[in-house]
Order: sequence, then C-alpha cells, then structure tokens
Amino acid sequence: MTRSLENRVAIVTGGSGGIGGATAKLLAQNGATVAVADIDFSGSEKVVKEIIASGGQAKAYKVDLANEEDIKKLVLGIVEDFEHIDILFNNAGIIKRTTCLDISAQEWDMVFDVNVRAIFLMCKYVIPHMRKVGAGSIINTGSGWGLKGGGRALSYCASKGAVVNMTRALAIDHGPDNIRVNSVNPGDTNTQMLVNEANQLQQEVQTFLAESADRPLKRMGEPIEIAQAVLFLASDDSSFMTGSALVVDGGGIA
Ligand SMILES: NC(=O)c1ccc[n+]([C@@H]2O[C@H](COP(=O)([O-])OP(=O)(O)OC[C@H]3O[C@@H](n4cnc5c(N)ncnc54)[C@H](O)[C@@H]3O)[C@@H](O)[C@H]2O)c1
Repeated sequence: MTRSLENRVAIVTGGSGGIGGATAKLLAQNGATVAVADIDFSGSEKVVKEIIASGGQAKAYKVDLANEEDIKKLVLGIVEDFEHIDILFNNAGIIKRTTCLDISAQEWDMVFDVNVRAIFLMCKYVIPHMRKVGAGSIINTGSGWGLKGGGRALSYCASKGAVVNMTRALAIDHGPDNIRVNSVNPGDTNTQMLVNEANQLQQEVQTFLAESADRPLKRMGEPIEIAQAVLFLASDDSSFMTGSALVVDGGGIA
C-alpha cells in the first residue's frame, strides 16, 4: 500500500516533543522524510532516533526561530540534505500567562518573535522551494485562543489571532502556486506547555490539568489527536482546503 506522504519532505518546527514530536513521528509513519527543527536539539535527536528505529527517515536540526539567520540556515540545510520541501508544519510556540499590566514590551516581542514572526520567516524562505516543486502544504499551529479570548494571556491570544489570519492571507497569495495554507487550532493538550502555564500562574499542576478537562468531551487532548489533524491537512486528503482554521479541542470553543 502506498503511504500518503511517500517521497515528501516535511519540516516540523517545535518537533522535539509535545504536539510537534507526535506529528513528526506520524508524518514519518506515513512515508514523509521529516526535518525535526527545535531550539532543543537533544529532544529533536530523541524523536529522530525513534523515527529511524521504526523504519522512518528523519534528521534533527537546531534552530532558534527568533533568529532570522538561523531560519535561513535551517532551510538551506534541509534543501541541501533532501533537495525539496513539500510540507511545512509551523508549530513551535511559547506562552506568557500575563495581563497587559504585567507583561514587559520585551516579553511581548519574544512571544511574537516565536509565535508569529517565525511563521512569516519560515514561509518567506520555504515557499520559493515549494514553488519549484509546484505544490506544497503549510500548516500553522494556532489555538482556540486564536479564535476567542482568554484570561491572563494577552500576548498569546494576540499572537494566535495573528496566526489564524496570516494563514488566510498566505492562502490567498499562494493558492495560485498550488500551495495550501491552513491552521490547526488545538484546545488544551497534554504537553509541557500546560505545565508551564500552571507554573506561570502559580497554580498546582494537577488542579490546572483537571480544569483543562472542562469541555464537552470532559478531557484534555493528547498530542497524537492534534497530529492526526495535521496529517490530514498535510496530505492530499485535504486537497480542496486552504485558508481554513481547523479546530481540534474536544468542543472547547463550541
Ligand atoms: N498544549 C496546548 O494545550 C496547546 C493548545 C493550543 C495551542 N498549542 C500550540 O501548540 C504548539 C506546540 O506546543 P506544545 O503544546 O506541543 O508545547 P511544547 O512546549 O511541548 O512545544 C513547543 C516547542 O517549541 C519549541 N520552541 C520554543 N521556542 C523556540 C524557538 N525560539 N526556536 C525553536 N523552537 C522553539 C520548544 O522547544 C518546544 O519543543 C504551540 O504553538 C502552542 O502554542 C498548544
């Protein structure tokens, strides 16, 4: 049986664990060669080892997505290694659980550098390679909080709203290049990010996680459940979808 992503090269940012790690493994299982890119190189290497041990193809790359030179080098390195790029999962993200009154301008910029500017720069340097192929699928990780507001998360909500709408703008500009651009918008998902949030809010982690389950399906998501949606958007199964905001949140914003 031909796997849906056979002969395709995929980049996964924030691929060292959490949603990115689960997606890197799932894309590889489905035939893609995966470039796992993260600031956490040893985490990426672990994911790559797992992929290779189960018969897949992958390579780890260290990148600080807040740095344009790093992004340029990353894209160049991947093209040197694998010749083409077909799928880009812009997934890395950070959160600061603060109001307008207690976030500094520098912290605001950091959230936007990683959550928004890095997506712009990754697209800027990857799209010319997708044009050469004549096709591409870009998936950007938004959030339920890109579609509605949330408490003590001003910079995060603003950045994820930007991700959802820049996805639409990219889809309009690059549809004629046969490059599809969609966002995946998870609700609370069982990753390190939720632990970070609990710590930032000085809440007990288990209590915070229990509260995260307060949605129609009465539980948090698991990274693999977001990865399944990304696989769908990456593959030809979603061939007529572009500019969409796919919500995967157990009914959270319903
Ligand atoms: N977990 C959730 O509940 C949830 C909900 C909605 C959206 N999201 C989004 O999902 C995405 C993945 O997050 P996750 O939940 O897997 O959390 P995570 O913290 O496990 O993953 C984030 C990854 O981004 C990487 N990263 C951070 N800054 C970077 C930088 N400057 N350069 C390169 N890599 C960097 C981290 O090393 C990490 O591997 C994020 O965009 C997040 O905003 C998560």
